[in-house]
Amino acid sequence: MAGTPTPPTSRGEPDPAAARALYSRHADSYDVQTDWAGSDRAKTVDLLGLRPGDTVLDVGCGTGLCFAAIQSQIGPSGRLVGIEPSVEMLGRAAERVARAGWDNVDLRLGLAEEQLRPDDRLDAALFCFTHDVLRSLPALEAVVSRLAPGGRVAAVGPMWAPWWAPAANLLVWYVTSDYVTTYEGFSKPWSHLADLVPSLEVERIDLAGEYFAWGSI
Ligand SMILES: C[S@@+](CC[C@H](N)C(=O)[O-])C[C@H]1O[C@@H](n2cnc3c(N)ncnc32)[C@H](O)[C@@H]1O
Repeated sequence: MAGTPTPPTSRGEPDPAAARALYSRHADSYDVQTDWAGSDRAKTVDLLGLRPGDTVLDVGCGTGLCFAAIQSQIGPSGRLVGIEPSVEMLGRAAERVARAGWDNVDLRLGLAEEQLRPDDRLDAALFCFTHDVLRSLPALEAVVSRLAPGGRVAAVGPMWAPWWAPAANLLVWYVTSDYVTTYEGFSKPWSHLADLVPSLEVERIDLAGEYFAWGSI
């Protein structure tokens, strides 16, 4: 039907233009729609092992739902960089920052692979429900190359459940189809990150179709 977004069937590259269109639609209701994931976000921020004063990148920060957890650990002497290509999602993130009165946040509109600067130095990078980013090698290389020695990464997201759990996969597809632009790598979404961060550890929650991954360079 004309004008109706179609779910991704692609096993190819992430599509940034399609992602902008998706998240432009989601921005108003995103926080309510994804409220169920709050404890997963908190756990993933904890996996970064943040310290006061750290500089943290929230890659694909969306509306900034991870910001409060990050701020509570880095404190006012830390720095939070949020990169997000959807103007509507980043607008919600900016409102959140203004409401909280945080003055240590640097929000950048665009793709991670375009918005990191040569002199950015990161103590940690967060990938919270960012399948498209995890399947973009240019984005991952841009982020990992800015990590300081010992810099940490943590990721959470959906993945295919095992083949013998088709009902779980129907649910995974139903929940994710309007939030990703590719299913490429969906059996092992962390695989490119593991190539760049060899110490990466992974916790698979097979029947929930979800994983956590974390490590340091
Ligand atoms: C499911 S949302 C997750 C938002 C947030 N991290 C959270 O936990 O709620 C995925 C976000 O990744 C963003 N995104 C997609 N491709 C990106 C890229 N190449 N660089 C940075 N962000 C990207 C999307 O615009 C979207 O806001």
